[in-house]
Amino acid sequence: MQQVKSGFENAKKLFSLVKPFFRERAYFHLTCLLILGTTQSSVVVYLSYAQRMLTDTLQSKDEGGAFQAAINNFLYLLIFAIPVFGLNDFISSGAYVSWRDFVSKEMISLYLRNRNYYKMYLRSQESGKLDTDEIDNPDQRICVDVATFCRSFIDLFMLFFNSFVKMVSFVAILWTIEPWLVVFLGLYSLAGSSVVGHIFGGKMIPLQDNLRRKEADTRFSMVRVRENAEAIAFYSGEDLEEKEILRRLQQTMELQRTKRGSKSILNLFQNSYSYLTWLIPVLVLYPRFFQGKMEYGAIFQAQIAFNTILSSLSLVISQFDSISFLLGAGNRIYQFDRELQRIENDYRFNDGPNQDHVTEETTQEGTLHRRFAADRSQKKDGGQTQTDRIRFVTSERVKLIGVTVMAPSSLKRTIILSDVNLELQGKQRLLIVGRSGIGKSSLLRVLCGLWNHGRGTVERPELGDMLFLPQKPYMPIGSLRQQLLYPREDKNEEHYDDQVLEKVLERVGLSQLVTRHGLRTQDLDFSKILSVGEQQRLAIGRVLVIKPSVVVMDEATSAMDIANEKNVYEIIGSLRDGETSIISVGHRKTLVQFHTHVLDLDRHEKGGEALRTMEDYLKEHPMQQ
Ligand SMILES: Nc1ncnc2c1ncn2[C@@H]1O[C@H](COP(=O)(O)OP(=O)(O)O)[C@@H](O)[C@H]1O
Ligand SMILES: [Mg+2]
Repeated sequence: MQQVKSGFENAKKLFSLVKPFFRERAYFHLTCLLILGTTQSSVVVYLSYAQRMLTDTLQSKDEGGAFQAAINNFLYLLIFAIPVFGLNDFISSGAYVSWRDFVSKEMISLYLRNRNYYKMYLRSQESGKLDTDEIDNPDQRICVDVATFCRSFIDLFMLFFNSFVKMVSFVAILWTIEPWLVVFLGLYSLAGSSVVGHIFGGKMIPLQDNLRRKEADTRFSMVRVRENAEAIAFYSGEDLEEKEILRRLQQTMELQRTKRGSKSILNLFQNSYSYLTWLIPVLVLYPRFFQGKMEYGAIFQAQIAFNTILSSLSLVISQFDSISFLLGAGNRIYQFDRELQRIENDYRFNDGPNQDHVTEETTQEGTLHRRFAADRSQKKDGGQTQTDRIRFVTSERVKLIGVTVMAPSSLKRTIILSDVNLELQGKQRLLIVGRSGIGKSSLLRVLCGLWNHGRGTVERPELGDMLFLPQKPYMPIGSLRQQLLYPREDKNEEHYDDQVLEKVLERVGLSQLVTRHGLRTQDLDFSKILSVGEQQRLAIGRVLVIKPSVVVMDEATSAMDIANEKNVYEIIGSLRDGETSIISVGHRKTLVQFHTHVLDLDRHEKGGEALRTMEDYLKEHPMQQ
C-alpha cells in the first residue's frame, strides 16, 4: 500500500514538473515523437513477419520465387527502417534541448526574481545543515538536475511508448498463436514489478537523491578553493582543504558502494527474471510443431512476440535504475521549485502592505526589475500577524520611525536593534557608529529592504534611487564597463559613452585600468585583479554613473588611503548639486569631517538619544577631531 502511495506521489510530482511545458511548444515535438515511435514499432512488427516468411521459405528449401520474394521483402523493410531508427535520436534530442531550455529558464527566472535567491540564502541560514528541508546546491539543481531530468524523461518516455505500441501488436500476434502465453506474461510481469517496487523502490530513489547532493557538495568544495585560491595560499591551507574535499568525496563514494550493492542484487533479479522464461514458448508449442500442425516460422515469431511482450511489460523492472535516476533528479527539482514558490509567498520575507507597488521600475538610464510580491503575500498571510513586519513607505527623504530590527534567519526572533528613530533632510550626511556587532549593517539591510523582520516604519526613496555600497564590493565577471554600470545593463547608450566612463575612472583615480585592461575586454574577474581599495574606488565610480539620491556606504572606504577617502566624499558631495544624501557606517576618525550628523548606536543601547549633530557628538568625543 505504502509503495502504491509513494508511486502515486512520484507520478504526481512528475506530472507537475512536466505539465508547464505543455502550455508552450511541446506539442510539435511530442507529435513527432509519437509518430516516429509508432512507425518504429510497426517496423519492428513487420520485421518479425518478414523474418517468419524468410524462415518458412528456408525450411521449404525452395529456391524459387517465394524465397526471392522473402529476401526482397526483408531488404525493402530494412531500407525503410534504417532512417526511421536514425531519426529517433535527432527528434528526441530536439525535444530535449527545447525542454531543458524552457525548464532552466523558468527555474533561473524564479530563482532570481523577487530576491528569491536571497530569501533562500536566509532560509538556509535559518535551517542549519541538519534540516532536511534545506535546499542544498541550487546551482546544481538548475544546471545538472534539470538536464538529467529532461534527458532521462524523454528517453524513458520514448522507451515506454514504443514498447507499448510494439506490445499491443505482438499481443495480437501471440494471441492468435497461443492466448495462454499472453495471460501468463501478464501475471508474471505484474508479480515481478511488485517485487522490484517493493524491495528496491524505497531504497534506490532516496539513494539517488542523496548521491546527487553529495556529488554537488564535493564539487562545491572544489569551487570554493578556486574562488579563494589566494587566501588559501596565504594561509597554506591546502592540506586542510584537501582533507575537506576528500571527506566529501568519501561520502559520495560510500553512497556509490551502497548503490553498487543494491544494484547488483537488482541485476541478479532482472537477469533471472528474463532468462527463466526463455524456453517457455518453445516448450508450450513444440508438440504442435512435431505433429506438423504448426510451421517453424510461427514458433519463431511466437518466440519474438513472447520476448518483446515480456520486455515491454517488465520495463519497470529492467529500467528501474534509470527510473530511480529520473525520480532522484525530478525530486530535487520539485523540492527546489516548491521551496521557491513558498519563499516567494512567505510574508516574513516580503515587504509590507505599504510597499511601493513597483512591478517594473524603469529609470532613465535603463530598466531595473524589481517585483515585489506584496499583493500575494497579503493574500497568503491570512491569519498570520503582520505586526512583526516593518512597513516601507516611499518618500523623498530617509526617515525611520520606531524601527525595531529582528534577524530574519532566527526562528527565535532575536532583536538586534530596538526603536530607532531617524530623519534625514537633503544635504544632511549621516555617520552611523557603534561597536562591531551592534547592528549597523543590519540597519542598512533594513533600509535597503533586504530585511523586513521587526516593527516600525521606514520611509525612503525608491530603491532605484538609492545605491548601497558594501565593504567588499561585488565585481561581476565582465568588462570594465560592466563593472562601472553594474547593476545597470551594459547598453551602447550615449550617456554610457566610453569617454564618459573614462572620465569617471579618472575621477576615482583608476584611469590606469583603461590602459591595462581596456574598457571592453570581456570576462575579466576584477575581484581577483584589483586590490580591495581599488575595488572600493571602482564601486564609487558606480555612484558617479548612477547618480543616486541616497548613497549608503557600509565601511565602503575602509580599504582606501586617507587621500582617496577624502576624494570619494568630495565626489559624492558634488553629485546632484550637493543634494545627494550620504549614510555611512565607519570606524575611522577621518570620516567625521564628511558628515553632519551621527547615529550613535552605543549611546542608543544605553538609552540615550542616538541621533545628534556632529557638533554635539564631537563635544562628547573631542579626541575624534
Ligand atoms: N542573518 C543573521 N541571523 C542572525 N543574526 C545575525 C544575522 N546577521 C547578523 N546577525 C547578528 O546581528 C548582529 C548585528 O550584526 P551586524 O549588523 O552585521 O553588525 P555590525 O554593527 O558590525 O555591522 C550581530 O550580533 C550578528 O551576529
Ligand atoms: Mg557591519
